[in-house]
Amino acid sequence: MSPKDRGVSFFATNMNIKSGQIYNENCTATLARMPDNFIDMVITSPPYDGLRTYNGYAFDFETLVPLLYEKMKSGGVAVWVISDATVNGCETGTSFRQALHFINCGFNLHDTMIYHKRNPMPTAGNRYHQNFEYMFAFSKGAPKTFHPVMEATKYRGLANMKNRGTAGTLVYKKVERTTEKKVGNVFSYSIGGGISTKDKVAYGHPAIFPEALASDQIKTWSSESDLVYDPFMGSGTTAKVAHLLKRQWIGSEISAEYVEIATKRLALYTNAPLNSTNASHA
Ligand SMILES: C[S@@+](CC[C@H](N)C(=O)[O-])C[C@H]1O[C@@H](n2cnc3c(N)ncnc32)[C@H](O)[C@@H]1O
Repeated sequence: MSPKDRGVSFFATNMNIKSGQIYNENCTATLARMPDNFIDMVITSPPYDGLRTYNGYAFDFETLVPLLYEKMKSGGVAVWVISDATVNGCETGTSFRQALHFINCGFNLHDTMIYHKRNPMPTAGNRYHQNFEYMFAFSKGAPKTFHPVMEATKYRGLANMKNRGTAGTLVYKKVERTTEKKVGNVFSYSIGGGISTKDKVAYGHPAIFPEALASDQIKTWSSESDLVYDPFMGSGTTAKVAHLLKRQWIGSEISAEYVEIATKRLALYTNAPLNSTNASHA
């Protein structure tokens, strides 16, 4: 078995890259040090449309996606949380353009999920309030892991199942209804101070995503001990949730200021019991 297939033990033998680290650098530099077929899952919200300058840092999207493809394991899933800005009266279409680039680089667009904000910032003018972002789930081949978020079914007890018998007559059968079903692909979250996270230090970053979102996606597309990578780690949401869910994780963040915020935030949890998180889909 080659080192890259050995999972956890690989980290001990590779001096270039370690799990449980946020690398203060351009994400393409971190990826370049990873072996191929290394990452089980990516979850991230990239900077887009120059909406925020994040201390002036930008990233080269065109170069990043083929690198991600190379470094992800077959069956790995990348969840890309993104929206569009409106410029001169027109939505930029960045989300769709990026999705098409992922497809051109070999990924499957496996599931276009929606991150619905229950309490969005009101928007002025003759448009409806912008209350969602895309959560594109791109996969390298068929996803190797799928633990869907479930919800209780409405009806209980026996249901009538109708089937055509071999003679063409209708045959009725009583079957026990299931008690749970997969949720739909629109995920709703409340957001904002004290809700997206309870960690006050995280709000030093201007654009965190809710811990509940990270938790739902990480649970769905990865298993314990899998390696989760966030190329745009920001305040450390992915790292914290991955840690609490017993995944290995690696992050990149180009701003030293945000790395410091994430490091302070993680220090609150790295000695805490690993089997709880305040994040859950609701
Ligand atoms: C939308 S924020 C991510 C927020 C994060 N999901 C959280 O919950 O805190 C995007 C981050 O990408 C960082 N960034 C921008 N260009 C980068 C690059 N080339 N490599 C790594 N990080 C970069 C920014 O500094 C910013 O913190």
